[in-house]
Amino acid sequence: MRHFSFPTLSVLLAAAVLALPACNQSGQRPASAGDQAQVDGKRIERADREPGNWMTHGRTYSEQRYSPLQRINDDNVDELGLAWSFDLQTKRGIESTSLVVDRVMYTTGAWSIVHALDARTGRLLWSYDPKVPKAKAEHTCCDVVNRGVAAWRGQLFLGTLDGRLVALDAATGQVNWEVETLDATLPYTITGAPRVVKGKVLIGNGGAEFGVRGYLSAYDAKTGELVWRFYTVPGNPELGFENDAMRMAAETWNGQWWKLGGGGGTVWDSMAYDPELDLLYFGVGNGTPWNQEIRSPGGGDNLFLSSIVAVRPDTGEYVWHYQTTPGETWDYTATQHIILADIEHEGRTRKVLMQAPKNGFFYVVDRATGELLSADKYINLNWATHVDMATGRPVEVPEARYKDAPFTLVPSYLGGHNWHPMSYNPDTGLVYIPVLDMPAAYAQPPEFKYYPGVSNIGTDGVIGGLPDDQAERDAIGALMQGRLLAWNPTTQEAAWAVEHRGPWNGGTLTTAGNLVLQGTADGKLVAYAADSGEVLWDFPTQTGVVAPPITYEVDGEQYVSVNVGWGGAFALVFGEYVQSESLPNVSRILTFKLGADGSLPDVDWRPTVVFNPPPLNADQATLAIGHRKFQDFCMGCHGLNAVSGLLIPDLRGTAYLWDKQGWSDIVHGGARANKGMPKFAEHLSKDEVQAIRSYVVQQAHRGKQLREAAAGN
Ligand code: HEC
Repeated sequence: MRHFSFPTLSVLLAAAVLALPACNQSGQRPASAGDQAQVDGKRIERADREPGNWMTHGRTYSEQRYSPLQRINDDNVDELGLAWSFDLQTKRGIESTSLVVDRVMYTTGAWSIVHALDARTGRLLWSYDPKVPKAKAEHTCCDVVNRGVAAWRGQLFLGTLDGRLVALDAATGQVNWEVETLDATLPYTITGAPRVVKGKVLIGNGGAEFGVRGYLSAYDAKTGELVWRFYTVPGNPELGFENDAMRMAAETWNGQWWKLGGGGGTVWDSMAYDPELDLLYFGVGNGTPWNQEIRSPGGGDNLFLSSIVAVRPDTGEYVWHYQTTPGETWDYTATQHIILADIEHEGRTRKVLMQAPKNGFFYVVDRATGELLSADKYINLNWATHVDMATGRPVEVPEARYKDAPFTLVPSYLGGHNWHPMSYNPDTGLVYIPVLDMPAAYAQPPEFKYYPGVSNIGTDGVIGGLPDDQAERDAIGALMQGRLLAWNPTTQEAAWAVEHRGPWNGGTLTTAGNLVLQGTADGKLVAYAADSGEVLWDFPTQTGVVAPPITYEVDGEQYVSVNVGWGGAFALVFGEYVQSESLPNVSRILTFKLGADGSLPDVDWRPTVVFNPPPLNADQATLAIGHRKFQDFCMGCHGLNAVSGLLIPDLRGTAYLWDKQGWSDIVHGGARANKGMPKFAEHLSKDEVQAIRSYVVQQAHRGKQLREAAAGN
């Protein structure tokens, strides 16, 4: 572990102290330096006594994202108006949950940049830019996003995209300490928000598509010393195991997974804590590669992939686990949001943990023991028939493992629910889930080679892409659905649902004012009645929303705030289904209160592709190579079948299609590596790079013809 102290870090100190918080009119003591973000375990445990604050990622350690505030409620929410907005100045994805502690909002934008603002006015107090090298974008599966900071005793903790954990002085944004949480030579990233439990800052990482071994680390909040680290998958058995949990896990693996990047199992998002049981819960991701036939030939459960794990927060000691998808082979992570609640089960109130992981089942688990209490389908999935309550295991449809033939699965690798947080309202007893409902085709690849540092999913990228036939593409598009689902965890059935226009919508917030708030892909923030789903209010956000709203109160005034800005995995990959309705990415914080009437400046542009391809003069064999290589190496950023979501250039519109040398310099030579466009010299020959160009030329002609045909209609 490298351990820096603040004075040596001048390069990282872009933090500018723009202003100290001003004195407020209502006579409250202004926060002074050293006085800010004075959050500790007691305050978080008693968060309901100060509902005006939002002190940790999910508001409470139970991560319910339920606010007891009710000045804004189902009676008056239609009087909500824009109080202030703040421009996040990026065209990349925005996924952050803001914190609000004692009148100050702390939030993050793309590239792990932190802002502190006056929560009443949106006035910037300070910003901190960790100066993540743009080249690091090559190791991101799902955009250069960040989901927020943690606050503790006057400090803020940030996990940076390139893997540092940074402790900032909450009053000034200056760096107190900074540690490297991972081996910087490996394709790890951090996008998740840290949590702090008992003075330990907990931080995981991502990168399982690329080839890493997942773990969760705990650092001393004061000093930045590493206290413990829990690996989620075993390493090479010949090197010995870190603990008994790894010894147990290794029994469930076959083959030489550690040579294929490390097994995966990254802890990239969810955590929750029960102070009474003193258990820390976290969700574990997919394997490297996804395809289990390659990762662990002959099968096995492959612990702790796709599991919920409970450990002691002081030591990282394993206590129990529940695996949602044994032997996962579809990217069915269990990193999705974990909520703790006390709910009725068979006539008794039980302390439960709830999760709607990617695999499409909603799980209710006894959080003291890990015993499965119930599991049912929250979407119409087809990879399993049900979860067997005697064994706690899903009963799979055998063909779903796509060993001998391709199989089209629901849900897709983006899951029935992704990272967008759900929320639980104890008044209605309902969980509000941002559901994705879309298929994906899986097949064995013609061959598999492990390429260090690039996406290694181990499934057939051509079959997993889009069909050539436009009618078939449209049919897939029609299956791409999303909804806000109000789910009763006691009866395991839907109470109500609202259909959205596409799958990739925002996380949810619910309140004691009988409200659920959610942003949508098509550019709205919407308030629903929590009990009935009735639409009560909406506001045009001008851009897609994926982040979850929060609510807080200052000087007796309740606010609702959400970070808007389109991005993330779906936005990058599914351009085919994004472009036609594409809104510009206008990343902002929007904050609302009753009676306000602020408005946003007009946005009079929409992103679009200008087609001007050179003549196509490649043979079918070359185009086939280009197609496959595009799907294997370019699709994750430039979109399936070369149709981009327009956050990253749509290659069908680039002038480099005319310029073989320029194309080669960028793709093979790495001329744009410092802008997040990776260098592929180690993985692709110059001929393959040109074959990709030819394939993109073909796709550009296709796009041009479709547009002309549409215009002719
Ligand atoms: C990790 C994400 C990522 C991957 C994977 C990726 N690209 Fe890019 N690419 C980018 C970004 C970001 C840019 C824009 C860079 C800039 O701002 O100049 C870009 C730009 C380009 C450009 C220049 C376009 C222009 O008009 O300026 C070309 C050509 C290109 N990419 C080709 C490819 C090819 C071919 C592949 C696959 C072999 C690929 N890229 C894979 C992120 C990616």
